[in-house]
Amino acid sequence: MQRIYVHPFPVRLWHWINAVGFVAMMLTGTQIRYVGLIDLMSFRTAVTVHNWIGFVLIGNYFIWLLFYLFTDKIRVYHPELSPTKHFKASFRQLQYYGYGIFKGSPNPHQVSAYDKFNPMQSMMYQVVMFLLVPLLAVTGVLLWDVQGFYGAVDFFGGVRVVDTVHVLIYIFFVFFIFFHVYMGSLGHTPTAHYKAMFVTGYEEIEEEPGQGEATKR
Ligand code: HEM
Repeated sequence: MQRIYVHPFPVRLWHWINAVGFVAMMLTGTQIRYVGLIDLMSFRTAVTVHNWIGFVLIGNYFIWLLFYLFTDKIRVYHPELSPTKHFKASFRQLQYYGYGIFKGSPNPHQVSAYDKFNPMQSMMYQVVMFLLVPLLAVTGVLLWDVQGFYGAVDFFGGVRVVDTVHVLIYIFFVFFIFFHVYMGSLGHTPTAHYKAMFVTGYEEIEEEPGQGEATKR
């Protein structure tokens, strides 16, 4: 068993705050969106908590962003520029999660400090961290003070457009969280990825013959 340090402290700190914050944002956001249909808390409390945690999460995002921008670990987010290679590797990963994992086949992706994401994670996390989270934050801030940001809201097509984008990304994240938590349990033990991301920072790699062959270039 090999131990590889893949989640440095700033990334774990960002992720703890982000995970708790997102769950709170979803609960309060659901209350705001479906006021009259559900009664988790008062509308006013939901709005106040949603606004405060929203700003905490925006600040928290910069822990993640600055860490990656100012260290060479940004390499884990470098995209595979050959679409053929990327889609072939993603397909192999999909086959593994859909079939191979149930009959004990080795994971086609071998984790290393600068290549910790499999091709599916790599694409998903790039879209989430560089597109959806920033877009969620920007639309959230605009909705927080529609009158103050009148010019920007108008530029993006009005309150309806900004609100629709915000709500669609919220719906995406509701599904994402369930999927992400499930995928997080598919390490060599059900808690292996959780321990690495939430506690130690180290992934434990089982060395099996043939492992990683499929992704070697
Ligand atoms: C209950 C909430 C959550 C749990 C239990 C959880 C669990 C995990 C685990 C176990 C990992 C490490 C395994 C892996 O790389 O996939 C991870 C990584 C990651 N998670 Fe989550 N997560 C949660 C919420 C979120 C949310 C809300 C987001 C985004 C908005 C998110 C984004 C990410 C990203 C981007 C990574 C890779 C981070 C990096 O190394 O740069 N997670 N998560």
